[in-house]
Amino acid sequence: MNIVILAAGMGKRMHSALPKVLHPLAGRPLLSHVLDTARTLEPTRLVVVIGHGADAVRAAVAAPDVQFAVQHEQRGTGHALAQALPLLDTSVPTLVLYGDVPLTRASTLKRLADAARVAGEKAGYGILTVTLDDPAGYGRIVRDAAGKVVRIVEQKDASEAERRIAEINTGIIITPSAPLASWLAALKNDNAQGEFYLTDVVEHAIAAGHPVVTAQPDDEAETLGVNSKQQLAELERVYQRNVAESLLVAGVTLADPSRIDVRGTLACGRDVFIDVNCVFEGDVTLADNVTIGPNCVIRQAAIGAGTRIDAYTHIENARVGAQAVLGPYARLRPGTQLADEVHVGNFVEIKNANIGHGSKANHLSYVGDADVGAGVNIGAGTITCNYDGANKHRTVIGDNVFVGSDTQLVAPVRVGRGVTIAAGTTVWKDVADDMLVLNEKSQVSKSGYVRPVKKKK
Ligand code: UD1
Ligand code: CA
Repeated sequence: MNIVILAAGMGKRMHSALPKVLHPLAGRPLLSHVLDTARTLEPTRLVVVIGHGADAVRAAVAAPDVQFAVQHEQRGTGHALAQALPLLDTSVPTLVLYGDVPLTRASTLKRLADAARVAGEKAGYGILTVTLDDPAGYGRIVRDAAGKVVRIVEQKDASEAERRIAEINTGIIITPSAPLASWLAALKNDNAQGEFYLTDVVEHAIAAGHPVVTAQPDDEAETLGVNSKQQLAELERVYQRNVAESLLVAGVTLADPSRIDVRGTLACGRDVFIDVNCVFEGDVTLADNVTIGPNCVIRQAAIGAGTRIDAYTHIENARVGAQAVLGPYARLRPGTQLADEVHVGNFVEIKNANIGHGSKANHLSYVGDADVGAGVNIGAGTITCNYDGANKHRTVIGDNVFVGSDTQLVAPVRVGRGVTIAAGTTVWKDVADDMLVLNEKSQVSKSGYVRPVKKKK
């Protein structure tokens, strides 16, 4: 089939400079969600009709399988679809989706396509409809006494009686493509909005003897569109609730399914526990028995089996081995690789560094652009001075080094294996294996010192 996604509308009620279809849901543009669903149906042609913010929309979703048709003036949904006509394969049906309706499932669209396929001798015209408690604002499905669809009437053009119809047009349709050009050309704009309504095409389909069928989604939320920030926020919650449900179904323990946000993909092993208010972005994998404390942000990372991540830990573009212990308040920045059983404690920042098996940095340190061996203990307040004001340099620390508290390692510098660095040392020259390294300082104690006292006013 062809798939056409209508995405030319402005989205006035978003009150934003960003075109509506580019507003993010779960961290990605609304339109990207619709494109993902469309792709699962393996369309012969995939066309996006753009208009408002056309350049931005094109740049955001450009891909080899996507073609764009530009609707220069927004003259209605029928006029929008007409812009895509030259790009369609007329030998297969055309499915029309909306760029601002992000949660439609592929299974629902397949059901609609199947219903249209088996409709009769002539190709069917399928409409996805849903019955709402409050149908206000939507186009209504008008049926005859026998229950056959006769036409669709927009809210603004409907009579009192028609407005009481609860079955609405979701806007998603599938139509035979060959007669579409003549049907669209025959549309008139003598209606309340002065627009060329795609909804009027159904009357031409009926007149031409094409059977009209309807199908319904599994879930009402699949048909909800975004016109305002309120609706965007509602759909974000629906999306996140669905993600939480699938995690629960897969056996993940969530402290509160309503307090997790996944903006990307989260793949979990067995017996994973996730506490409240965690945010996962990009592709994140948590192996078996990982536990995540509250308020963690984890972006584009792989966490090894049995690792415990305590509260308020931030991880970005990092790999963490098995049985590691991180946080609370640890920060792993891009390019961090931790081997198994590494401990990274509170207020420790690690960037672009490899930390070997069983090494520990438990308090208040910065380890950047470094290669740290196995079994290393990094004392509190250790800093790799990796930046000379112009360039970054590497610090290399061998296995079983003991780094005393408040040490500065001025890179580039290499510390051999088994070295002991005394507390408060500035290391700016390479150190050979098994040395004790310290800066000579002296401690002076003087008697008779009187501390200043605050003057009374
Ligand atoms: C449309 C349907 C209505 C249905 C409702 C479901 C028509 C005439 N009405 O109404 O029956 O109940 O959707 O949400 O089709 N668009 C363009 N170019 C245009 C106009 C619209 O690309 O010239 C795009 C919009 O970006 C949007 C979609 O088409 O993605 C729907 O347009 P919108 O104006 O929201 O249609 P509604 O009035 O809500
Ligand atoms: Ca709408």
